Amino acid sequence: MDKLLIEGGARLSGEIAISGAKNAALPILCAALLTTEPVTFTNVPRLNDIATLLRLLEQMGVKVSREADVVTLDASGVDNPVASYEMVKTMRASILVLGPLVARFGEARVSLPGGCAIGARPVDQHIKGLQAMGADVKVEHGYVHAKVPKLKGARIFTDMVTVTGTENLMMAACLADGETVIENAAREPEVVDLANCLVAMGARISGAGGDVIRIQGVAALHSATHRVMPDRIETGTYLCAAAVTGGDVRLTGTSASYLDAVIDKLMDAGCEIVAERDAVRLKAPARLNAVSLRTAPYPAFPTDMQAQFMAINAVAEGTAVIRETIFENRFMHAVELQRLGADIKIDGNTAFVKGVARLQGATVMATDLRASASLIIAGLVAEGETTIERIYHLDRGYEKLESKLAALGAKVRRLS
Ligand code: UD1
Repeated sequence: MDKLLIEGGARLSGEIAISGAKNAALPILCAALLTTEPVTFTNVPRLNDIATLLRLLEQMGVKVSREADVVTLDASGVDNPVASYEMVKTMRASILVLGPLVARFGEARVSLPGGCAIGARPVDQHIKGLQAMGADVKVEHGYVHAKVPKLKGARIFTDMVTVTGTENLMMAACLADGETVIENAAREPEVVDLANCLVAMGARISGAGGDVIRIQGVAALHSATHRVMPDRIETGTYLCAAAVTGGDVRLTGTSASYLDAVIDKLMDAGCEIVAERDAVRLKAPARLNAVSLRTAPYPAFPTDMQAQFMAINAVAEGTAVIRETIFENRFMHAVELQRLGADIKIDGNTAFVKGVARLQGATVMATDLRASASLIIAGLVAEGETTIERIYHLDRGYEKLESKLAALGAKVRRLS
């Protein structure tokens, strides 16, 4: 299993390009299931999660062609509307095939995701929405089995804000009879990017980006080309990496506009940030101030940036209080950060992080994608060498991680 070795102490500076967003690309690739015509996507990041999804689509009968960041999918020959446990257990987002499959084929069998490192993460809202649209949904032998002659438009109110739930139901509604209204919808930029892609394919959607989304069903969708939005979490992660090292970086191919809550906190921490049209520049002070935060659905502070901020707070001046309100078990990185010398106390969903003058390099273990990112950030400022084990988590979500970090001057290498 690959490991990452980081020699702490280098100040990050320079420029790198941000990749397409994993969490936008995953639903957008699934949208190709809704049409018999080929759909082309650009700016698709080369990540293990994307490769897993493309494999799953291929198993269903989708023709996949990929060259660099351009992926073309042709779902005219789909003959197997099934997502097996083997696929879903490695990537929960596989559940995103459920809505499109039921909408186009009137049937789907998708494995339940089961538990994951950051919590139970059920899919009851996805099921409830499809049931409201007239589908007969049974959970049998660990699989969600949905069947319906034709989905019907419905008013759906989700019990909590769910990103993939909103995306699944929005895709399903595109081919339903009549109007669907999703209330309490997720407002994440990735939901808007998916809606833009669906509209380019001929869907009639309004309100994406707000908490009420209206979809008028159409008889069929068609061919289109769509560019995946930049990855705001990758952007935020490199901003934190630069900030913690007192660095000065410019990230291109991205935008500060999706990152207001994160940028606000980095400015509170003492960083200077310049938002350009397609780039973000950050200059950091020698030592950051501690910043408290509370995660919540967009536009509030993203749970996917919580671990990275725990790492920067670990060496900041002062004490930060971090509240995690989205996932019940998302502090696994805290114990690993403690191994590097961080002073962190956990009480339920709240972490108290008292900044220390310096961390010390050690061997730590990545437990999930964003937890791994926080260990890299800590490793960049720890004294001596930090070894991060189980970095396959990072390969799920960060494209060309070592080469991007190295381009900014980090001393990092991968051991296979
Ligand atoms: C998505 C993102 C993930 C991010 C998360 C929250 C993708 C592929 N992943 O995950 O990176 O951390 O949003 O911003 O886009 N819930 C239920 N029942 C449901 C659905 C969700 O109880 O049917 C709960 C979850 O357990 C969680 C909360 O709702 O506590 C939010 O989850 P959700 O927004 O659905 O997360 P994902 O879409 O899985």
